[in-house]
Amino acid sequence: MEAGREDVMAVEKEIELSGASVDALQQALQEGTARVGVVGMGYVGLPLALLFAKGGFLTTGFDIDSEKVQKLRAGETYIKHIPSQTIAGAIEKKRFRVTDDFDELAEMDAIVICVPTPLDDHREPDLSFIRDTAEAICPRLRAGQLVVLESTTYPGTTEEVVLPILAKSGLRCPVSSYDTDGVTAEAVASEEADFLLAFSPEREDPGNKDFRTHQIPKVIGGVNATSARAARALYQRGFDRTLLVSSSRAAEMTKLLENIFRCVNIALVNELKLLCLRMGIDIWEVIEAAKTKPFGFTPFYPGPGLGGHCIPIDPFYLTWKAHEYEFPTRFIELAGEINSAMPEHVVATVGEALNRRRRCLQDAKVLVLGVAYKKDIDDLRESPSLRIIELLQSHGARVDYHDPYFPRLHKMRRYNLGMESVNLTPEALAAYDTVVIATDHSSYDYEAIVAAAQQVVDTRNATGKVRAHREKIVRC
Ligand SMILES: NC(=O)c1ccc[n+]([C@@H]2O[C@H](COP(=O)([O-])OP(=O)(O)OC[C@H]3O[C@@H](n4cnc5c(N)ncnc54)[C@H](O)[C@@H]3O)[C@@H](O)[C@H]2O)c1
Repeated sequence: MEAGREDVMAVEKEIELSGASVDALQQALQEGTARVGVVGMGYVGLPLALLFAKGGFLTTGFDIDSEKVQKLRAGETYIKHIPSQTIAGAIEKKRFRVTDDFDELAEMDAIVICVPTPLDDHREPDLSFIRDTAEAICPRLRAGQLVVLESTTYPGTTEEVVLPILAKSGLRCPVSSYDTDGVTAEAVASEEADFLLAFSPEREDPGNKDFRTHQIPKVIGGVNATSARAARALYQRGFDRTLLVSSSRAAEMTKLLENIFRCVNIALVNELKLLCLRMGIDIWEVIEAAKTKPFGFTPFYPGPGLGGHCIPIDPFYLTWKAHEYEFPTRFIELAGEINSAMPEHVVATVGEALNRRRRCLQDAKVLVLGVAYKKDIDDLRESPSLRIIELLQSHGARVDYHDPYFPRLHKMRRYNLGMESVNLTPEALAAYDTVVIATDHSSYDYEAIVAAAQQVVDTRNATGKVRAHREKIVRC
Protein backbone atom coordinates (compact mmCIF):
# COMPACT_ATOMS: atom_id res chain seq x y z
CA MET A 1 0.00 0.00 0.00
CA GLU A 2 1.35 3.44 -0.96
CA ALA A 3 2.70 5.64 1.81
CA GLY A 4 0.02 7.58 3.66
CA ARG A 5 -2.79 5.53 2.09
CA GLU A 6 -3.62 3.91 5.39
CA ASP A 7 -4.18 7.33 6.89
CA VAL A 8 -6.40 8.41 4.01
CA MET A 9 -8.49 5.26 4.35
CA ALA A 10 -8.81 5.83 8.07
CA VAL A 11 -10.10 9.33 7.41
CA GLU A 12 -12.53 8.07 4.75
CA LYS A 13 -13.84 5.51 7.20
CA GLU A 14 -14.36 8.20 9.79
CA ILE A 15 -16.29 10.29 7.28
CA GLU A 16 -18.51 7.35 6.39
CA LEU A 17 -19.22 6.96 10.04
CA SER A 18 -19.84 10.60 10.63
CA GLY A 19 -23.65 10.63 10.32
CA ALA A 20 -23.94 7.88 12.91
CA SER A 21 -21.31 9.48 15.18
CA VAL A 22 -23.06 12.81 15.15
CA ASP A 23 -26.39 11.18 16.02
CA ALA A 24 -24.71 9.23 18.82
CA LEU A 25 -23.18 12.46 20.14
CA GLN A 26 -26.55 14.22 20.15
CA GLN A 27 -28.05 11.34 22.10
CA ALA A 28 -25.18 11.19 24.60
CA LEU A 29 -25.46 14.94 25.22
CA GLN A 30 -29.20 14.75 25.73
CA GLU A 31 -28.96 11.77 28.04
CA GLY A 32 -26.02 13.20 29.99
CA THR A 33 -23.77 10.25 29.19
CA ALA A 34 -21.30 12.30 27.15
CA ARG A 35 -17.77 12.92 28.37
CA VAL A 36 -17.04 16.63 28.47
CA GLY A 37 -13.60 18.26 28.47
CA VAL A 38 -13.09 21.87 29.48
CA VAL A 39 -9.76 23.39 28.38
CA GLY A 40 -8.53 26.18 30.67
CA MET A 41 -9.29 25.85 34.39
CA GLY A 42 -9.55 29.60 35.05
CA TYR A 43 -12.22 31.95 36.32
CA VAL A 44 -14.48 30.79 33.49
CA GLY A 45 -13.49 27.17 32.83
CA LEU A 46 -13.47 25.92 36.42
CA PRO A 47 -17.05 26.92 37.38
CA LEU A 48 -18.27 25.76 33.98
CA ALA A 49 -16.64 22.32 34.39
CA LEU A 50 -18.20 22.01 37.86
CA LEU A 51 -21.58 22.90 36.39
CA PHE A 52 -21.27 20.21 33.71
CA ALA A 53 -20.23 17.72 36.39
CA LYS A 54 -23.27 18.70 38.45
CA GLY A 55 -25.42 18.25 35.33
CA GLY A 56 -24.29 14.61 35.22
CA PHE A 57 -21.56 14.67 32.57
CA LEU A 58 -18.26 12.93 33.21
CA THR A 59 -16.17 16.08 33.10
CA THR A 60 -12.42 16.51 32.66
CA GLY A 61 -10.63 19.81 33.14
CA PHE A 62 -7.47 20.41 31.07
CA ASP A 63 -4.82 22.99 31.86
CA ILE A 64 -1.18 23.58 30.94
CA ASP A 65 -0.45 24.99 34.40
CA SER A 66 0.60 21.85 36.28
CA GLU A 67 0.60 23.63 39.65
CA LYS A 68 -3.07 24.51 39.16
CA VAL A 69 -3.78 20.95 38.03
CA GLN A 70 -2.16 19.50 41.17
CA LYS A 71 -4.08 21.84 43.43
CA LEU A 72 -7.44 21.10 41.82
CA ARG A 73 -6.73 17.36 41.86
CA ALA A 74 -6.21 17.63 45.60
CA GLY A 75 -9.68 19.19 45.80
CA GLU A 76 -8.31 22.62 46.63
CA THR A 77 -9.57 25.85 45.18
CA TYR A 78 -7.41 28.75 44.10
CA ILE A 79 -10.34 31.11 43.39
CA LYS A 80 -11.90 32.57 46.53
CA HIS A 81 -15.54 32.47 45.47
CA ILE A 82 -15.34 28.79 44.40
CA PRO A 83 -15.25 26.67 47.58
CA SER A 84 -12.80 23.76 47.85
CA GLN A 85 -15.74 21.60 49.00
CA THR A 86 -17.45 21.98 45.63
CA ILE A 87 -14.32 20.82 43.80
CA ALA A 88 -13.56 18.01 46.26
CA GLY A 89 -17.24 16.91 46.19
CA ALA A 90 -17.29 16.64 42.38
CA ILE A 91 -14.01 14.67 42.42
CA GLU A 92 -15.31 12.32 45.13
CA LYS A 93 -18.47 11.63 43.15
CA LYS A 94 -16.16 10.75 40.24
CA ARG A 95 -17.88 13.33 38.04
CA PHE A 96 -14.84 15.62 37.75
CA ARG A 97 -11.14 15.17 37.21
CA VAL A 98 -8.31 17.45 36.11
CA THR A 99 -5.35 16.66 33.90
CA ASP A 100 -2.50 18.16 31.91
CA ASP A 101 -2.39 15.14 29.61
CA PHE A 102 -3.89 16.46 26.41
CA ASP A 103 -4.00 12.98 24.82
CA GLU A 104 -7.15 12.51 26.89
CA LEU A 105 -8.88 15.03 24.63
CA ALA A 106 -9.44 12.15 22.20
CA GLU A 107 -11.73 10.48 24.74
CA MET A 108 -14.02 13.51 25.09
CA ASP A 109 -17.33 13.80 23.25
CA ALA A 110 -17.47 17.56 23.71
CA ILE A 111 -14.54 19.93 24.24
CA VAL A 112 -15.14 23.45 25.53
CA ILE A 113 -12.33 26.01 25.17
CA CYS A 114 -12.01 28.63 27.94
CA VAL A 115 -8.48 29.99 27.49
CA PRO A 116 -7.38 33.64 27.80
CA THR A 117 -7.76 36.19 25.02
CA PRO A 118 -5.58 39.15 26.05
CA LEU A 119 -4.21 42.02 23.98
CA ASP A 120 -0.57 41.95 22.94
CA ASP A 121 1.95 44.75 23.56
CA HIS A 122 0.52 46.67 20.58
CA ARG A 123 -3.00 46.33 22.01
CA GLU A 124 -3.95 43.89 19.28
CA PRO A 125 -5.80 40.57 19.82
CA ASP A 126 -3.52 37.81 21.07
CA LEU A 127 -5.14 34.61 19.87
CA SER A 128 -2.10 32.46 20.64
CA PHE A 129 -3.91 30.65 23.49
CA ILE A 130 -6.85 29.78 21.22
CA ARG A 131 -4.52 28.71 18.41
CA ASP A 132 -2.40 26.56 20.76
CA THR A 133 -5.53 24.86 22.08
CA ALA A 134 -6.90 24.19 18.58
CA GLU A 135 -3.47 22.78 17.59
CA ALA A 136 -3.59 20.53 20.66
CA ILE A 137 -7.07 19.28 19.75
CA CYS A 138 -6.37 18.74 16.03
CA PRO A 139 -4.31 15.51 16.19
CA ARG A 140 -6.78 14.07 18.75
CA LEU A 141 -9.94 15.10 16.92
CA ARG A 142 -12.26 12.28 15.90
CA ALA A 143 -15.58 12.01 14.08
CA GLY A 144 -18.55 12.79 16.25
CA GLN A 145 -16.83 15.30 18.56
CA LEU A 146 -18.21 18.72 19.41
CA VAL A 147 -15.83 21.63 19.98
CA VAL A 148 -17.15 24.87 21.51
CA LEU A 149 -15.16 28.06 21.90
CA GLU A 150 -16.14 30.25 24.88
CA SER A 151 -13.23 32.71 25.02
CA THR A 152 -14.28 36.26 24.22
CA THR A 153 -13.06 37.24 20.77
CA TYR A 154 -13.88 39.09 17.54
CA PRO A 155 -16.62 37.87 15.18
CA GLY A 156 -15.19 35.31 12.80
CA THR A 157 -12.65 33.66 15.12
CA THR A 158 -14.46 30.32 15.32
CA GLU A 159 -14.84 30.04 11.54
CA GLU A 160 -11.62 31.74 10.45
CA VAL A 161 -9.12 30.66 13.10
CA VAL A 162 -10.34 27.55 14.95
CA LEU A 163 -12.03 25.73 12.05
CA PRO A 164 -9.02 25.80 9.64
CA ILE A 165 -6.73 24.43 12.37
CA LEU A 166 -9.16 21.60 13.25
CA ALA A 167 -9.75 20.88 9.54
CA LYS A 168 -6.06 20.00 9.19
CA SER A 169 -7.13 16.69 10.76
CA GLY A 170 -8.87 15.79 7.50
CA LEU A 171 -12.26 15.80 9.22
CA ARG A 172 -14.94 18.11 7.90
CA CYS A 173 -17.24 20.64 9.45
CA PRO A 174 -18.92 22.71 6.72
CA VAL A 175 -19.98 26.27 7.39
CA SER A 176 -23.62 26.73 6.49
CA SER A 177 -26.33 29.13 7.51
CA TYR A 178 -29.45 28.02 9.35
CA ASP A 179 -32.62 29.40 10.83
CA THR A 180 -32.99 29.38 14.56
CA ASP A 181 -36.63 28.29 14.49
CA GLY A 182 -35.60 24.65 14.31
CA VAL A 183 -36.96 23.98 10.80
CA THR A 184 -33.54 23.81 9.18
CA ALA A 185 -32.27 21.72 12.04
CA GLU A 186 -34.16 18.85 10.40
CA ALA A 187 -31.92 19.05 7.34
CA VAL A 188 -28.75 18.61 9.32
CA ALA A 189 -27.80 15.08 8.42
CA SER A 190 -27.13 16.07 4.81
CA GLU A 191 -24.47 18.49 5.92
CA GLU A 192 -21.98 15.67 6.35
CA ALA A 193 -20.28 17.19 9.33
CA ASP A 194 -17.65 14.86 10.81
CA PHE A 195 -17.08 17.02 13.82
CA LEU A 196 -19.13 19.94 15.14
CA LEU A 197 -18.06 23.44 16.04
CA ALA A 198 -19.83 26.27 17.86
CA PHE A 199 -19.24 29.45 19.84
CA SER A 200 -20.96 30.24 23.11
CA PRO A 201 -19.86 33.37 24.96
CA GLU A 202 -18.99 33.16 28.61
CA ARG A 203 -20.94 35.69 30.66
CA GLU A 204 -19.41 34.91 34.04
CA ASP A 205 -19.39 37.74 36.56
CA PRO A 206 -17.03 36.43 39.25
CA GLY A 207 -18.38 36.81 42.75
CA ASN A 208 -21.87 37.92 41.64
CA LYS A 209 -24.20 36.39 44.23
CA ASP A 210 -27.40 37.44 42.42
CA PHE A 211 -26.69 35.51 39.23
CA ARG A 212 -24.95 32.15 39.42
CA THR A 213 -23.45 30.66 36.24
CA HIS A 214 -26.44 28.41 35.54
CA GLN A 215 -28.92 31.29 35.85
CA ILE A 216 -27.30 33.36 33.12
CA PRO A 217 -28.90 32.44 29.77
CA LYS A 218 -26.44 30.75 27.41
CA VAL A 219 -26.23 32.19 23.90
CA ILE A 220 -25.08 29.64 21.31
CA GLY A 221 -24.16 29.94 17.64
CA GLY A 222 -22.97 27.00 15.52
CA VAL A 223 -20.99 27.08 12.30
CA ASN A 224 -23.90 24.97 11.00
CA ALA A 225 -27.26 23.79 12.33
CA THR A 226 -26.00 20.41 13.54
CA SER A 227 -23.31 22.11 15.59
CA ALA A 228 -25.79 24.57 17.07
CA ARG A 229 -28.16 21.79 17.99
CA ALA A 230 -25.46 19.68 19.67
CA ALA A 231 -24.06 22.67 21.58
CA ARG A 232 -27.55 23.48 22.79
CA ALA A 233 -27.99 19.91 24.04
CA LEU A 234 -24.68 20.23 25.93
CA TYR A 235 -25.61 23.48 27.67
CA GLN A 236 -29.22 22.53 28.34
CA ARG A 237 -28.06 20.11 31.01
CA GLY A 238 -26.32 22.82 33.00
CA PHE A 239 -28.11 26.07 32.23
CA ASP A 240 -31.65 27.16 33.01
CA ARG A 241 -32.03 28.83 29.61
CA THR A 242 -30.30 28.58 26.25
CA LEU A 243 -30.73 30.80 23.21
CA LEU A 244 -29.69 29.87 19.68
CA VAL A 245 -28.45 32.57 17.32
CA SER A 246 -27.98 32.00 13.61
CA SER A 247 -24.17 31.75 13.42
CA SER A 248 -21.02 31.57 15.52
CA ARG A 249 -20.27 35.12 14.34
CA ALA A 250 -23.55 36.42 15.78
CA ALA A 251 -22.74 34.73 19.11
CA GLU A 252 -19.24 36.24 19.11
CA MET A 253 -20.67 39.68 18.38
CA THR A 254 -23.30 39.32 21.13
CA LYS A 255 -20.61 39.09 23.79
CA LEU A 256 -18.77 42.09 22.37
CA LEU A 257 -21.95 44.18 22.26
CA GLU A 258 -22.56 43.43 25.95
CA ASN A 259 -19.06 44.51 26.95
CA ILE A 260 -18.89 47.51 24.63
CA PHE A 261 -22.23 48.67 26.07
CA ARG A 262 -20.67 48.64 29.53
CA CYS A 263 -17.42 50.23 28.41
CA VAL A 264 -19.14 53.11 26.59
CA ASN A 265 -21.61 53.79 29.40
CA ILE A 266 -18.89 53.76 32.04
CA ALA A 267 -16.95 56.27 29.92
CA LEU A 268 -20.06 58.43 29.72
CA VAL A 269 -20.49 58.60 33.49
CA ASN A 270 -16.75 59.08 33.98
CA GLU A 271 -16.86 62.09 31.68
CA LEU A 272 -19.99 63.46 33.35
CA LYS A 273 -18.33 62.98 36.73
CA LEU A 274 -15.45 65.23 35.66
CA LEU A 275 -17.94 67.88 34.58
CA CYS A 276 -20.00 67.49 37.76
CA LEU A 277 -16.87 67.93 39.89
CA ARG A 278 -16.26 71.29 38.21
CA MET A 279 -19.91 72.27 38.53
CA GLY A 280 -20.12 71.29 42.18
CA ILE A 281 -22.77 68.63 41.51
CA ASP A 282 -22.64 65.20 43.12
CA ILE A 283 -22.70 62.68 40.22
CA TRP A 284 -23.60 59.86 42.62
CA GLU A 285 -26.68 61.69 43.80
CA VAL A 286 -27.63 62.34 40.16
CA ILE A 287 -27.27 58.66 39.21
CA GLU A 288 -29.38 57.57 42.20
CA ALA A 289 -32.08 60.03 41.12
CA ALA A 290 -31.96 59.01 37.44
CA LYS A 291 -32.18 55.36 38.48
CA THR A 292 -35.69 55.87 39.77
CA LYS A 293 -36.94 56.16 36.18
CA PRO A 294 -38.65 52.81 35.68
CA PHE A 295 -37.71 52.49 31.99
CA GLY A 296 -35.01 53.56 29.54
CA PHE A 297 -32.19 54.12 32.03
CA THR A 298 -29.53 51.69 33.22
CA PRO A 299 -27.22 52.96 35.96
CA PHE A 300 -23.46 52.85 35.49
CA TYR A 301 -20.98 54.22 37.98
CA PRO A 302 -17.81 56.26 37.64
CA GLY A 303 -14.54 55.03 39.10
CA PRO A 304 -10.75 55.22 39.00
CA GLY A 305 -10.57 53.50 35.59
CA LEU A 306 -11.54 50.22 34.01
CA GLY A 307 -10.33 46.88 35.31
CA GLY A 308 -10.82 43.18 34.91
CA HIS A 309 -10.21 40.90 32.02
CA CYS A 310 -13.17 41.94 29.87
CA ILE A 311 -14.19 45.57 29.74
CA PRO A 312 -10.79 47.21 29.16
CA ILE A 313 -9.80 44.61 26.55
CA ASP A 314 -12.68 43.08 24.61
CA PRO A 315 -13.86 46.22 22.76
CA PHE A 316 -10.45 46.42 21.08
CA TYR A 317 -10.96 42.99 19.59
CA LEU A 318 -13.79 44.49 17.58
CA THR A 319 -11.84 47.64 16.71
CA TRP A 320 -9.08 45.44 15.30
CA LYS A 321 -11.51 43.39 13.22
CA ALA A 322 -13.33 46.51 12.02
CA HIS A 323 -10.10 47.69 10.35
CA GLU A 324 -10.54 44.83 7.89
CA TYR A 325 -13.80 46.49 6.84
CA GLU A 326 -12.24 49.98 6.87
CA PHE A 327 -14.74 50.91 9.55
CA PRO A 328 -13.78 53.22 12.42
CA THR A 329 -15.29 52.18 15.78
CA ARG A 330 -15.47 55.72 17.16
CA PHE A 331 -17.51 55.04 20.29
CA ILE A 332 -15.04 52.35 21.39
CA GLU A 333 -12.00 54.56 20.74
CA LEU A 334 -13.51 57.52 22.59
CA ALA A 335 -14.64 55.40 25.53
CA GLY A 336 -11.15 53.86 25.72
CA GLU A 337 -9.59 57.31 25.72
CA ILE A 338 -11.80 58.59 28.57
CA ASN A 339 -11.61 55.47 30.71
CA SER A 340 -7.87 55.01 30.39
CA ALA A 341 -7.29 58.64 31.47
CA MET A 342 -9.05 58.09 34.81
CA PRO A 343 -5.96 56.95 36.79
CA GLU A 344 -4.24 60.20 35.71
CA HIS A 345 -7.27 62.09 37.00
CA VAL A 346 -6.99 60.29 40.37
CA VAL A 347 -3.30 61.16 40.68
CA ALA A 348 -3.94 64.78 39.67
CA THR A 349 -6.64 64.97 42.37
CA VAL A 350 -4.24 63.55 44.98
CA GLY A 351 -1.70 66.19 43.95
CA GLU A 352 -4.28 69.02 44.24
CA ALA A 353 -5.53 67.69 47.59
CA LEU A 354 -1.97 67.67 48.97
CA ASN A 355 -1.34 71.11 47.52
CA ARG A 356 -4.28 72.52 49.45
CA ARG A 357 -2.51 71.36 52.60
CA ARG A 358 0.77 72.90 51.45
CA ARG A 359 2.30 69.57 50.53
CA CYS A 360 3.28 68.02 47.24
CA LEU A 361 3.36 64.56 45.69
CA GLN A 362 7.14 64.38 45.87
CA ASP A 363 7.93 62.38 49.04
CA ALA A 364 4.28 62.37 50.15
CA LYS A 365 3.23 59.20 52.01
CA VAL A 366 0.22 57.79 50.17
CA LEU A 367 -1.80 54.72 51.09
CA VAL A 368 -3.89 53.09 48.35
CA LEU A 369 -6.83 51.08 49.68
CA GLY A 370 -7.82 48.20 47.41
CA VAL A 371 -5.89 46.78 44.48
CA ALA A 372 -8.50 44.29 43.22
CA TYR A 373 -10.19 45.69 40.11
CA LYS A 374 -13.57 45.63 41.82
CA LYS A 375 -14.86 45.16 45.30
CA ASP A 376 -14.83 41.88 47.20
CA ILE A 377 -12.94 39.82 44.61
CA ASP A 378 -9.41 38.43 44.45
CA ASP A 379 -8.66 39.46 40.87
CA LEU A 380 -6.33 42.27 39.94
CA ARG A 381 -6.10 41.86 36.20
CA GLU A 382 -5.92 45.27 34.51
CA SER A 383 -6.72 46.87 37.87
CA PRO A 384 -6.53 50.69 37.71
CA SER A 385 -5.01 50.64 41.22
CA LEU A 386 -1.79 49.28 39.74
CA ARG A 387 -1.56 52.15 37.27
CA ILE A 388 -2.40 54.63 40.06
CA ILE A 389 0.42 53.23 42.24
CA GLU A 390 2.82 53.37 39.30
CA LEU A 391 1.87 56.99 38.49
CA LEU A 392 2.11 58.10 42.13
CA GLN A 393 5.57 56.52 42.36
CA SER A 394 6.64 58.22 39.15
CA HIS A 395 5.81 61.55 40.83
CA GLY A 396 8.07 60.65 43.74
CA ALA A 397 5.37 59.65 46.24
CA ARG A 398 6.11 56.93 48.78
CA VAL A 399 3.25 54.53 48.20
CA ASP A 400 1.90 51.65 50.27
CA TYR A 401 -1.25 49.66 49.72
CA HIS A 402 -3.71 47.58 51.67
CA ASP A 403 -6.01 44.90 50.29
CA PRO A 404 -7.53 42.04 52.31
CA TYR A 405 -7.46 39.86 49.17
CA PHE A 406 -3.81 40.48 48.25
CA PRO A 407 -1.20 40.14 51.02
CA ARG A 408 1.42 40.82 48.34
CA LEU A 409 1.57 41.91 44.71
CA HIS A 410 3.06 39.11 42.66
CA LYS A 411 4.76 39.71 39.35
CA MET A 412 2.34 40.31 36.48
CA ARG A 413 2.75 40.65 32.74
CA ARG A 414 3.00 44.43 32.92
CA TYR A 415 3.65 45.24 36.56
CA ASN A 416 6.28 44.09 38.99
CA LEU A 417 5.60 46.30 42.00
CA GLY A 418 7.01 43.89 44.60
CA MET A 419 4.86 45.36 47.42
CA GLU A 420 3.20 43.87 50.49
CA SER A 421 -0.12 44.89 52.00
CA VAL A 422 0.41 47.01 55.14
CA ASN A 423 -1.54 46.72 58.41
CA LEU A 424 -4.62 48.89 58.61
CA THR A 425 -4.53 50.30 62.12
CA PRO A 426 -5.70 53.82 63.08
CA GLU A 427 -2.06 54.72 63.86
CA ALA A 428 -0.89 53.45 60.47
CA LEU A 429 -3.68 55.36 58.67
CA ALA A 430 -2.78 58.56 60.49
CA ALA A 431 0.82 58.32 59.29
CA TYR A 432 -0.11 58.87 55.61
CA ASP A 433 -0.48 62.29 54.05
CA THR A 434 -3.34 60.92 51.94
CA VAL A 435 -5.36 57.73 51.77
CA VAL A 436 -6.79 56.89 48.32
CA ILE A 437 -9.85 54.63 48.21
CA ALA A 438 -9.35 52.83 44.90
CA THR A 439 -11.49 49.73 45.55
CA ASP A 440 -14.51 49.89 47.86
CA HIS A 441 -14.25 46.48 49.54
CA SER A 442 -17.22 45.85 51.84
CA SER A 443 -14.97 44.79 54.71
CA TYR A 444 -13.53 48.30 55.14
CA ASP A 445 -14.88 50.42 58.00
CA TYR A 446 -15.12 53.74 56.16
CA GLU A 447 -16.16 55.73 59.26
CA ALA A 448 -13.02 54.54 61.02
CA ILE A 449 -10.81 55.16 57.98
CA VAL A 450 -12.00 58.76 57.64
CA ALA A 451 -11.71 59.32 61.40
CA ALA A 452 -8.09 58.11 61.50
CA ALA A 453 -6.75 59.45 58.19
CA GLN A 454 -5.43 62.95 57.60
CA GLN A 455 -7.18 63.11 54.23
CA VAL A 456 -9.14 60.65 52.07
CA VAL A 457 -9.38 60.79 48.28
CA ASP A 458 -12.46 58.73 47.42
CA THR A 459 -12.75 57.42 43.85
CA ARG A 460 -15.80 55.18 44.54
CA ASN A 461 -18.13 57.19 46.74
CA ALA A 462 -17.34 54.64 49.46
CA THR A 463 -17.54 57.42 52.05
CA GLY A 464 -20.87 58.72 50.74
CA LYS A 465 -22.65 57.79 53.97
CA VAL A 466 -19.89 58.84 56.37
CA ARG A 467 -21.12 61.86 58.36
CA ALA A 468 -18.19 62.76 60.65
CA HIS A 469 -15.06 64.58 59.42
CA ARG A 470 -16.43 65.21 55.94
CA GLU A 471 -13.89 68.01 55.55
CA LYS A 472 -11.21 65.33 55.18
CA ILE A 473 -12.92 63.71 52.19
CA VAL A 474 -11.95 64.71 48.66
CA ARG A 475 -14.34 63.49 45.98
CA CYS A 476 -12.58 62.16 42.93
N1 LIG B 1 -13.02 36.16 34.06
C1 LIG B 1 -14.16 36.61 33.64
O1 LIG B 1 -14.91 37.21 34.40
C2 LIG B 1 -14.63 36.41 32.22
C3 LIG B 1 -15.97 36.72 31.91
C4 LIG B 1 -16.42 36.52 30.62
C5 LIG B 1 -15.56 36.03 29.65
N2 LIG B 1 -14.26 35.74 29.96
C6 LIG B 1 -13.44 35.20 28.89
O2 LIG B 1 -13.17 33.82 29.13
C7 LIG B 1 -11.87 33.49 28.66
C8 LIG B 1 -11.07 32.87 29.80
O3 LIG B 1 -10.93 33.83 30.83
P1 LIG B 1 -10.56 33.45 32.32
O4 LIG B 1 -10.90 34.65 33.13
O5 LIG B 1 -11.13 32.14 32.71
O6 LIG B 1 -8.97 33.30 32.20
P2 LIG B 1 -7.97 32.71 33.31
O7 LIG B 1 -6.66 33.35 33.03
O8 LIG B 1 -8.58 32.78 34.66
O9 LIG B 1 -7.89 31.17 32.96
C9 LIG B 1 -7.40 30.66 31.77
C10 LIG B 1 -6.78 29.30 32.04
O10 LIG B 1 -6.38 28.76 30.79
C11 LIG B 1 -5.15 28.10 30.98
N3 LIG B 1 -4.50 27.96 29.67
C12 LIG B 1 -3.84 28.88 28.95
N4 LIG B 1 -3.45 28.36 27.78
C13 LIG B 1 -3.87 27.08 27.76
C14 LIG B 1 -3.77 26.04 26.81
N5 LIG B 1 -3.16 26.20 25.65
N6 LIG B 1 -4.33 24.85 27.14
C15 LIG B 1 -4.95 24.67 28.33
N7 LIG B 1 -5.09 25.63 29.25
C16 LIG B 1 -4.55 26.82 28.97
C17 LIG B 1 -4.41 28.94 31.98
O11 LIG B 1 -3.39 28.22 32.64
C18 LIG B 1 -5.55 29.35 32.92
O12 LIG B 1 -5.70 28.42 33.98
C19 LIG B 1 -11.27 34.79 28.13
O13 LIG B 1 -11.48 34.86 26.75
C20 LIG B 1 -12.09 35.85 28.81
O14 LIG B 1 -12.18 37.01 28.03
C21 LIG B 1 -13.78 35.91 31.23
